[in-house]
Order: sequence, then structure tokens, then C-alpha cells
Amino acid sequence: MSSLTRTLPASWFCNPAMYQLERRAVFFKSWHFLGPVTRFQDRSSPVVYEIAQVILIVENLSEASEDINTDGIVVRSKDNSVSIRSHITPSGLVFATLSLDTPPFSEFFKGLEELTNKVDFTKLPHRRSISYEGRFNWKTMIDGFQECLHCQYTHPTFSKFYPPTFYSVQNHSNFSEHVVDPTKDSDGLFLYFYPICTLNVYGGGMSSFRSLPSTNPGVTRMEFDYYHSGTEEEFEEYFKFVRQVAMEDFELCEVAQANMERGIYGQGILNPEKERGVAFYQQQVRKAVRAQFEKEKALRLPEGLAKTKPLSHRCYKQPQLVA
Ligand SMILES: [Fe+2]
Repeated sequence: MSSLTRTLPASWFCNPAMYQLERRAVFFKSWHFLGPVTRFQDRSSPVVYEIAQVILIVENLSEASEDINTDGIVVRSKDNSVSIRSHITPSGLVFATLSLDTPPFSEFFKGLEELTNKVDFTKLPHRRSISYEGRFNWKTMIDGFQECLHCQYTHPTFSKFYPPTFYSVQNHSNFSEHVVDPTKDSDGLFLYFYPICTLNVYGGGMSSFRSLPSTNPGVTRMEFDYYHSGTEEEFEEYFKFVRQVAMEDFELCEVAQANMERGIYGQGILNPEKERGVAFYQQQVRKAVRAQFEKEKALRLPEGLAKTKPLSHRCYKQPQLVA
């Protein structure tokens, strides 16, 4: 049992100081997936992202054209004092950082382009984007995305079309590839980009979501983008199907977070086969946060953190004593 990977303790899902540490250790040191180039074809409307309280703006500065344009796409930070990097893969996926404190793209996502170059991501036009808040930590949603043990009972409609029989997760350098049916290349492909972004090709269309942290570790903003080449009616049918799956996950996350905040759950053990995707990304977070903590402790910066007492595994707040 000792060799099995433990989950991150519940306290990591509820503690505001932990989120600030994650912000410096994880978010500022990662590449974030913004969308395929088809998301940025409307020259009149820049697309605005807020990731870990940094605002990024994506504009297409090229002349208007019928063709999909890549060369005119520019990513910049709203705050001119913040320097960032951006990258567009040959297959048309746009990524950006929140600082210059990241490894080069090819090092961070080693091998990703070999996989994504098999798909032309410029074929499906952007159809809709939605955004809303959930009462859960950003990791609660990623936990659910990175395994499909819950699929059969949480997603009965999805499981009918994509039976979990062959469902497998392959972990790579800061990304995971989920394969539902090895015989289908272009349907049932799910990609996770550490730490908060996904890209999902299934049900006849493509979607991506971001699990965006707020300064309140118990609140996350979910943002979804949908891509489809069909008629209005076909798109609405696809949208209804994928929204059903998303809402089932949303409810599961709110209940899981509530259980952590009530102190019902402290820490668990991960299934080495069926939850290898969860173990992979949680280990990345754990390693990054611990390294950052040690670095800041050595630098005695910020002062408050160096004095932080070890956290309890549980979330619940100590009752306040009233005089
Ligand atoms: Fe799910």
C-alpha cells in the first residue's frame, strides 16, 4: 500500500495561502492553451482571457479575409509591465504564458506537436463560448477530467456512445492524452494541458474548457469554447449533448468540494491504473508547490509564508473562540 500514490490533501483545495503559492509555482511557470486559430478570426472583437488574475488579450491584426488567418494573431498582456510568450503550433493551436518564467514551449510540452500535427485544427469554426462560476477548487474539476472511473454512473448518455471499456490515459510532458477507442483517430480524443486547459474532440464537434482559479480557492470560473462545422440544428444537437456531460461533472465537483470543506474527506489513495491521469497532474502540482515553498523559505520571501505552520490535511475551519 505504501507505494500507492496519495491524493493531494483536502487542505490544498481550500487554503487561500496555498492558492497564492500555486499561482507563483504553477500558473506563472506554465504554458496555457487559449484556443485553435479559428477562435481568433473576428478582427473586430479581441478575445480576452483572465488566468490567475493576469489578463491576456488576443487580437487578429491581419486584413479581413475568407481564409483562416494565423499570421495576424497576436497575444499580449493587458498590463504593459507584464511580459509574456506565445506560440502557435503548425496544426493551429494557440498557447501563451503569464510571465517569462517558463521553459520554452518545445521543452514544456515535449512531443505535443508530433501528436497534434496529425489533426488539422483549422477545420472547425468557432460557434459559441460560455462562462460561469462553480463552487469548487480549480483542481476539483481537473481531478474529474483526468479519470473516467466516474463516467459510467455520472455520464450515462456519454457512456452509451463512448463505453469506458477501452478508456485509457497516457501521460506525457505536461499533457495527457485520453483515448476512448483506439480504432477512431478523430472521435473521442481528449487532451489535458497542465495545469488548467483541455481540448476535446467528440460528438461530432470540438470543445475546450479552462478551469480558472480565483483568489477564493473554493470558487472557479469555468470557460467553454465550442467548435462545429454543421448546420445550426446539428450544432445545437451537439451542444446539448456536450452540455449535458459538462453539467453532470459540475454537480459532481460542487458536491466533492462541499465534502472537503465540511471535513468529510481529508486524503485518499489513487487507483494506479484508472486514476493515473490524476496521479500525474497532482504530482506535478505537488512537486512545483513544494519547490516554490522551499525556494521562498530560503529567500525568506515573502516573510509570512516562511513562518506558515504545516497545514492540516482537512479543510474545515477551526471554530472561533468568543470571549
Ligand atoms: Fe466527467
